[in-house]
Amino acid sequence: MTQIPHAGVIGNPISHSLSPKLHGHWLERYDLAGDYTALQVAEDALEQTLRSLPAQGFVGVNVTLPHKVEVLKYADQVSDRATLIGAANTLTFREDGRIFADNTDGYGFMANLRQGAPDWDPEAGPATIFGAGGAARAIIVALADAGVPEIILSNRTRPKAEALRADFGPRIRVVDWVQAGSMLEDATTVINTTSLGMKGAQPFKVPLDALRPDAVVTDIVYNPLRTPFLDAAARMGCVTVDGLGMLLHQGVPGFERWFGHRPEVDDETRRAVLA
Ligand code: ATR
Repeated sequence: MTQIPHAGVIGNPISHSLSPKLHGHWLERYDLAGDYTALQVAEDALEQTLRSLPAQGFVGVNVTLPHKVEVLKYADQVSDRATLIGAANTLTFREDGRIFADNTDGYGFMANLRQGAPDWDPEAGPATIFGAGGAARAIIVALADAGVPEIILSNRTRPKAEALRADFGPRIRVVDWVQAGSMLEDATTVINTTSLGMKGAQPFKVPLDALRPDAVVTDIVYNPLRTPFLDAAARMGCVTVDGLGMLLHQGVPGFERWFGHRPEVDDETRRAVLA
């Protein structure tokens, strides 16, 4: 008897993760054999867990905080984009026992942006990014790949933004956090990658007066779906794209690899995950 394929998401904590709902929805929608569960894994249990999952019938897992960097140590093969980003969010357990690590965060960001703003032109002008954490790293790699000519970056802790410039080169210009509002004048793509504006976090306070009305503006925060940052941009006439789609699209490549069907991200998917 063949076992049904298991997949899941590992993190610590993990109870807040929307991935089980997302993959559960897709499995049901396409009537596929398989399941997907949330697995709370402490840091000191990471290696042992990864080594034991394939024998339990797992074909792969998504990886969230705090394990995204650490999992690279245990991978036998790492995709180019995961190597560039220095972190992985999607592991596939190959039949020969090898672990393949990939990072689909940048892909998810880009697919969401293209779906939410079909007329967006990466080459139209500079992109402005608020924040320099792990999400910003993945987004910078994706934007550079898409042909964005310049990336203007600001982070409360400036050395983290400088470190990204050191890693990703002269296409990045760093602006001090106290002057972050000044990064907007030329920007045709504007992205919040900080946690500001998230439910329970502090509000996003950078002044947006200089925002161009033809800019495409997106936020990686998706709780609430319409952040005050996106609302302010919409009031100024910008096309805005919320952050939920990034989460949904980043799940696509893993699901396809594990369960053999490329799933769709549409209103039905959004409704299922938000229910
Ligand atoms: P992730 O890896 O998901 O991007 P992270 O590495 O914790 O998460 O990054 C969170 C981002 O939000 C960082 O850019 C952080 O700025 P610092 O590097 O200065 O910590 C930013 N951030 C969080 N709280 C903030 C605040 N109150 N003001 C400004 N930026 C904040």
